Amino acid sequence: MNRTKKSFLVAGNWKMNPSSHKEAKKIFKEIKSVAQKSRTVQTVVFPPFVYLNEITNDVIKKCSLGAQDIFWEEEGSYTGQISASMIKSYKAQYVLLGHSELRALGETDAVINKKLKTVLKHELKPIVCVGEQIRDTEGWYLHTIKTQIEVCFVGIAKKSIKDIVIAYEPVWAIGKGATREATKEEAGEMAIYIKRVISTLYDTATASIVRVIYGGSVNTKNCMSFLEAGHVDGLLVGRESLSSKKFGEIIGLVDGIK
Ligand code: 13P
Repeated sequence: MNRTKKSFLVAGNWKMNPSSHKEAKKIFKEIKSVAQKSRTVQTVVFPPFVYLNEITNDVIKKCSLGAQDIFWEEEGSYTGQISASMIKSYKAQYVLLGHSELRALGETDAVINKKLKTVLKHELKPIVCVGEQIRDTEGWYLHTIKTQIEVCFVGIAKKSIKDIVIAYEPVWAIGKGATREATKEEAGEMAIYIKRVISTLYDTATASIVRVIYGGSVNTKNCMSFLEAGHVDGLLVGRESLSSKKFGEIIGLVDGIK
């Protein structure tokens, strides 16, 4: 593997799971016990908002907490929304933005852009999700990814790019409804393409520091393949992150990469 600095981000998106705060606390503690031993992996767990309070006291440097979304306003009459200051008070450091499951409910790139600006203003670490619905044979999916990045990054200063992680999550490879798993080539090529889009928007030096992670049906068997080629800087895990055993195994495998 051709890397000078070996560090990976392994993130677990719990989505609307588990069903009780006791279970959430237990899973996090078990994940933390593996994460704290890792040398090269930064683990982040994204529980539902209501469990942040339950987990906040167990947070350690190697195993951080993140929020699955955030609202762009600071406070006010916004029923059902959660602000950046609110999640910061629970020691959440990361924020997931533009997940395809939120996009499916109507979230647009312009809205993600507003949220991204708020996240950066509060010195939180955004993970911006991009991904196409289908892989067509004409390559239109590349256009989709390019447009998502262009609109999400409007007005984002070059100096902020080092603080942003982009998660490539092809919708067709996510969740139980996935049509198939992505190949390591598809993930690697898209990581390169995303960096190329950033280099067009900014410059090559900026593109070389942006981190791109892969998500979509990542499991203990395929996790290493996505990282092997060296273009992908980490993983965003859904279902398997709810099993501390499987997620711990993924963290351990990634930590073993030389
Ligand atoms: P799965 O790993 O369950 O496919 O979910 C991926 C995902 O959406 C992570 O954000």
